[in-house]
Amino acid sequence: METTLIILKPDAVQRSLTGKIITRFEDKGFQIVAMKMMKISPELAATHYAAHKGKPFYDGLVNFMTSKPVIVLALRGNKAIEVARKMMGATFGSKAEPGTIRGDFGLSNAFNLIHGSDSTEAAAHELKLFFGEGQVLDDSRLIDQWVYDMTSGTPE
Ligand code: RTP
Ligand code: MG
Repeated sequence: METTLIILKPDAVQRSLTGKIITRFEDKGFQIVAMKMMKISPELAATHYAAHKGKPFYDGLVNFMTSKPVIVLALRGNKAIEVARKMMGATFGSKAEPGTIRGDFGLSNAFNLIHGSDSTEAAAHELKLFFGEGQVLDDSRLIDQWVYDMTSGTPE
């Protein structure tokens, strides 16, 4: 099982799309193991998007991410990082396929509704950035016996 960090960006919150987006992840079978609403500080945005520092869109990205509250979630599931990224769709709303979150809910390239960790290393780093010790719960769900085939002891 993997855990990934998801941010419902300021546009998703302002447009009241957060329930619809969270429902998609719940319907897929993901377990929410942490969730909070917060306003991202400029320092946190800079650390989170450090890889993009110096790029033409960087200042706009930090301004956007710090402009209004976001909802941050930790999602646990089989191949959570890859599956969540697929569900998000391509970075730009104008390019994202219908059926994906960005493809169904947005037209903008910069205001693209959602962030998801893009690798195991990024997920581990980002979960620590946004959640403190013990805030990402290690709680089992009875329903996982029906979300996964657990007969071998691992989720299939
Ligand atoms: P994210 O990190 O937010 O999950 O998005 P991503 O992996 O799909 O895209 P990434 O390349 O990491 O870019 C981070 C965010 O920067 C904005 N962006 N603007 N104008 C541009 O060319 C451009 N490229 C990226 C987007 O808000 C993107 O989500
Ligand atoms: Mg990214």
